[in-house]
Amino acid sequence: MSARIPLLIDTDPGVDDALALLMAFGDPRHELLALTIAAGNVGLGHTVANALKLCDVAGVDVPVHAGCPVPLVHPAADAAYVHGQDGFGDTGYVPSARQADPEHAALAIVRLAKAHAGRLLLVMLGPLTNLALALRLDPDLPSRIGRLVVMGGAVTGQGNTSVPAEFNIAFDPEAAEVVFRAFPQFELVDWEAVVRHGFLHRDFEAWLARGDARAEFYGAISAHTRRWSEGKRGDHWHSADALAMAAALQPEGVRRAEHRPLAVELEGRLSRGATVVDWLRRSGRPDNARIVMDYDQARFEAQVRAALGA
Ligand code: BDR
Ligand code: CA
Repeated sequence: MSARIPLLIDTDPGVDDALALLMAFGDPRHELLALTIAAGNVGLGHTVANALKLCDVAGVDVPVHAGCPVPLVHPAADAAYVHGQDGFGDTGYVPSARQADPEHAALAIVRLAKAHAGRLLLVMLGPLTNLALALRLDPDLPSRIGRLVVMGGAVTGQGNTSVPAEFNIAFDPEAAEVVFRAFPQFELVDWEAVVRHGFLHRDFEAWLARGDARAEFYGAISAHTRRWSEGKRGDHWHSADALAMAAALQPEGVRRAEHRPLAVELEGRLSRGATVVDWLRRSGRPDNARIVMDYDQARFEAQVRAALGA
């Protein structure tokens, strides 16, 4: 058995997904088994193509499994206005010659959880559709996952897609409901934590300039989103999936976390897709979420720099 921790990433690349994947590709303590691909930031055709391309750029040869093209129940709008129409900044990159693996993402999750029972680190960087489907196929799945880390939610109702909701959860709230009910414990990196862990655009640009081929590609595909972000959020750049990946790969960097019951609002005139955290433990429900409140910023930035070769 490898001493490295087996790692499976479900992702919808996506500009911040790409940075998180580069972090995982280079990590010596984890063995990346596969990528399972969700629709979310943009449609599934683009997210699969982007995952394959990023693997090529980084010289990584792992299976890429396409998942569900739509949310479980209701249609949802993508985030092309943030990530570009193709999800990678519309640079017109030359597509990978590689194809996705024929096995569906949900089946790959079920299979790999069995093969690495008790040890698998599962990191969810997009809507939770594929994992919800895997749970319906294999209800015992949670007992086989070593750690589940989810990027999603807005734990005090300060969302990024509607007033109280965050994109990954709001894109497929029914899937989030299935996942959060099934797992007795999961770790959550929410949008509000992301806002507390930005880095300066000028620092990020300096890292890009010092980096290698990964940085060159990343600089190109992220240019559109960085410009959009600067106009909207000022001098700090926020990479949600990168923060979640930092917490997944180096959990010792978590400086403060809170355990609380967390559920998803499925209806609500103003709040569909909101993550409702029972901060005062009024419901008597178990503390299913370990919510990351504070992560060592220097450690986070060091992981991002390493991922870019800077
Ligand atoms: C999350 O939504 C997506 O747009 C990003 O890739 C990230 O996973 C942030 O809310
Ligand atoms: Ca994502």
